[in-house]
This record gives sequence, C-alpha cells and structure tokens, in this order.
Amino acid sequence: KHISIIGVPMDLGQSRRGVDMGPSAIRYAGVIERLEKLNYIIEDKGDIEIGRSNVDEGTTNLKHLKAVTEANTKLATVVDKVVESGSFPLVFGGDHSISIGTLAGISKHYQNLGVIWYDAHADLNTEETSPSGNIHGMPLAVSLGLGHPSLTNILGYAPKVKPENIVIIGARSIDPGEKDLIRSKGIKVYTMHEIDRLGMTKVMEETIQYLKDKTDGVHLSLDLDGLDPSDAPGVGTPVLGGISYRESNLAMEMLEESKLITSAEFVEVNPILDERNKTASVAVALMGSLFGEKLL
Ligand code: ARG
Ligand code: MN
Ligand code: MN
Ligand code: MN
Repeated sequence: KHISIIGVPMDLGQSRRGVDMGPSAIRYAGVIERLEKLNYIIEDKGDIEIGRSNVDEGTTNLKHLKAVTEANTKLATVVDKVVESGSFPLVFGGDHSISIGTLAGISKHYQNLGVIWYDAHADLNTEETSPSGNIHGMPLAVSLGLGHPSLTNILGYAPKVKPENIVIIGARSIDPGEKDLIRSKGIKVYTMHEIDRLGMTKVMEETIQYLKDKTDGVHLSLDLDGLDPSDAPGVGTPVLGGISYRESNLAMEMLEESKLITSAEFVEVNPILDERNKTASVAVALMGSLFGEKLL
C-alpha cells in the first residue's frame, strides 16, 4: 500500500493570499506520521513549483490564467506518473484550481472516472458565468471540457470527467450559471438541504451506490470549505451552515469501507486565516478516516 503526497502551493486561483501555505500546514499537522501508523508506505514528492510573477497574464474574468495553466500542467504530469507507478495520489492544495491538474493526470488512466466534489460550492463556473474571475470557482466545469482551451486541454485531451459520474456534496452557494449547468447536464448534487433531510449516512450510501457500478475509479476532491466554518475556519471563501466535522468523518469512513476511492485531494486550507492550524488538523483527521483509522 503506497501513497504519494504531492503539495501544490497555489494561491493564484483566488484572491486571498496564504492558501499557498496549505501544503506546509497539512504536513505540519502530522499527516505522514498519521498515515504511516496505518501501515502505508508514504512517499512525499514535495511541492510543485508555482510561477511567482507579479504580472497577471490572464484577463479580468480569468485571473492569472497563464500561471494557473503552467502549474496545473506540471501537476498533471506528476500525478500521471504516480498513477502509472501504482501508488495512490494524495494532493494537498493550494486553492481548488489545482483540481484541473489533478484530474488531468488521473483521468487518463480511467474510462469512467467518478468524482466526489465535497464543497460548499459547485466550482462549475466558466469565464462567461464567473462572478469573480477566480479560476478556483471553475475546475469542475473545466474537467467537463467547459472553459478556456488552455485549461480544458491540459495533457492534450478533454473532457476529463462525464457529468453522470460526478456527485457534489455539501453545496450551499451556487451561482446562477452553475445552477443552469447542473440542470442541463443532470449532475447529481446533495446540497445542505438533502444532507439535513436524509442525514449523512443516507447521502453516502446513495453516493456509493450511484457511482459503484458505472465507474472504474473514484477521485475525492475535498474542499475544506465544505465543512462548517466553525469546524474549518481557515478557508478563503467560508459559507455558513456547512457539514460538521463529525459528519465528515462518517463520510470518510463510509468511503473507506466502500473501497471505491482511488485518488484524493484536500484543498483550500489557508493557515493565515486559520485558528492555530485547526483546519489543517481537521484535514489530517479526515485523511486518517479515509485511509482506515478506527475509533476502536
Ligand atoms: N462561486 C464563486 C466563484 O466562482 C466561489 C467559488 C469558490 N470556490 C472554491 N473552490 N472555494 O468565484
Ligand atoms: Mn493577483
Ligand atoms: Mn468551496
Ligand atoms: Mn471548491
């Protein structure tokens, strides 16, 4: 059992500095020791290099397009090799724009990659619909093949994911263009309404059932802002009324039992906005559950 850790100190996909320190904060919270205790062999591949130019070579509605594209291309290449080697890719953000590169590197190896998008947001904006121009609000659309070609065509193929293989969990801040896309593509979404109504157990049972037969691998993309800000305060775009730490651990434990997950990323940890590294510690605890930690 091998896990390869890849850090992506990216903060150009949104407008609050500090999320580039996410990978350090997660390592500092003891992730390697924690996973080694579960008998995994951990290889830390270090951090992807991010262009640090002050010039924004994007447009107002695609901020830092060039730097984001370059970093994601590097990330995709590294992830591709990790999958090829048979190791489990575990990626630390950085803002959520890095999912563009992660999915580009992974999806090459699957006919029907499933994606669980655990997030307060749908990240389904395009240049046309984005209210902010921040690319971290676009990676799921990009992976569907929608958006700027330099982003959708990383590693030379598109799309990376099919709409029917996606499940969004925890959404509670969805922009008008994203709502249209969810409806027109028939994307499965469990908003906070469904989580409250059904409970996390049912939501995860349904999610696992929905993905199990039609996918040949499932990527977990976990944005820490999917959790309630009281449990995960160190994020750039917090939204009230989120998933609890307890429910999130349950979700991870159920995913572990399902044996479906073949890659994962934990994004949007911003230690500058955090309280004594709480959010990174939450991320590490969730990874513990995802990789088989038991309470008893
Ligand atoms: N929907 C908003 C936007 O497009 C917020 C996106 C937040 N995304 C995230 N990965 N935290 O700007
Ligand atoms: Mn800028
Ligand atoms: Mn989010
Ligand atoms: Mn996100």
